[in-house]
Amino acid sequence: MKLTMQLKSRSYDIILKAGCLANLHQFTNVQHRKVFVLTDSGVPAAYAQTVAAQCPEATVYTIPQGEGSKCLKVYGQVLQAMLAFGMDRRDLLVAVGGGVVGDITGFAAATYLRGMDYVQIPTTLLAQVDSSVGGKTAIDLPGGKNLVGAFKQPVCVLCDPDTLRTLPRKFLADGMGEVIKYGMIWDEKLFALLEQYDLDRIHEVMDQVIASCVDIKRQVVEHDEFDTGERMILNFGHTLGHAVESYYHYVTYTHGSAVAAGMCMMAKKTCSEDVYQRLCRCVTAYELPTKVLAPMAELVPLCGNDKKRASASLRFIVCQHIGKAEIRSMPFTEFAAWMGGKQA
Ligand code: NAD
Ligand code: GLY
Repeated sequence: MKLTMQLKSRSYDIILKAGCLANLHQFTNVQHRKVFVLTDSGVPAAYAQTVAAQCPEATVYTIPQGEGSKCLKVYGQVLQAMLAFGMDRRDLLVAVGGGVVGDITGFAAATYLRGMDYVQIPTTLLAQVDSSVGGKTAIDLPGGKNLVGAFKQPVCVLCDPDTLRTLPRKFLADGMGEVIKYGMIWDEKLFALLEQYDLDRIHEVMDQVIASCVDIKRQVVEHDEFDTGERMILNFGHTLGHAVESYYHYVTYTHGSAVAAGMCMMAKKTCSEDVYQRLCRCVTAYELPTKVLAPMAELVPLCGNDKKRASASLRFIVCQHIGKAEIRSMPFTEFAAWMGGKQA
């Protein structure tokens, strides 16, 4: 299956096909250009090797696995390695891995020699349904996540569901946090499908699920590439989710699990009991948390660091009905009182 992200000169195809990892050469030009394949130490090495083997002149560069690699130091090392390989602007970068590899590859592509082409080959569920599509690239600073970045669309995305076979269960569950989010913000039918499965059986309909999520993301990004309006709905669950990640120092909760808890905590405040209970049941079926032990009074001040906070106001996403999201804005002090937390 092929979807096309329509962004004028920055348009690109998103290929969803088992085995497409082995067919990069069919979807983008790898002849007469150097190809720098970036991966991490947790991704089975065979994936990057399969990609490199299709290119006459390629190298594989492996960074340590984990969020810690999305930093200035590793970013600098990647650029140095690209330089040492003799890359120029006409050459190609390829990300083979999860969101960490995708984000740092995209940022290197946005900045090396003022910009060059890159391909996303996402190998985690989270990266397949979210981070590989839409052109947000970033690295972290000691002061916070994703604080340095650029909008840089890939030239194509190859989403190969076969790679999920090696993905540890914990990361599969993590990606399901974002999948459930798509059902909540946009697609009641997708949500109803998810309700019929659980983490053990979702692989039976995984291709359909990934396609639905990617198509939703495509539509949202086409309307708001630069995240000035509608794209914010993709952040449902993220305002509290980011606070949870930060409160637990990015160790206890992975991104998708923090988002799952964030969605449920927001739904408890804003939805009917029926919607809240459906969301919690679904989140639980995918082995994700519906709440955290941290008190709301400690979490709310951390929401103040959220990038969606505009001056003294906080923008956050509410889904009163399954399949429909709205952006709300509130003075931060009011938000704090409303959520039952102390004022920042
Ligand atoms: P990740 O990239 O750290 O991958 C999770 C783990 O899975 C890693 O240890 C990795 O080595 C391993 N792995 C990857 N593919 C595998 C496979 N097929 N088999 C076995 N192991 C595999 O985590 P993630 O959840 O994919 O991405 C999280 C990152 O994505 C965060 O940095 C987040 O900020 C970013 N993100 C970016 C966007 C965006 O729009 N750019 C959106 C959401 C999240
Ligand atoms: N992951 C949120 C976005 O791409 O906007």
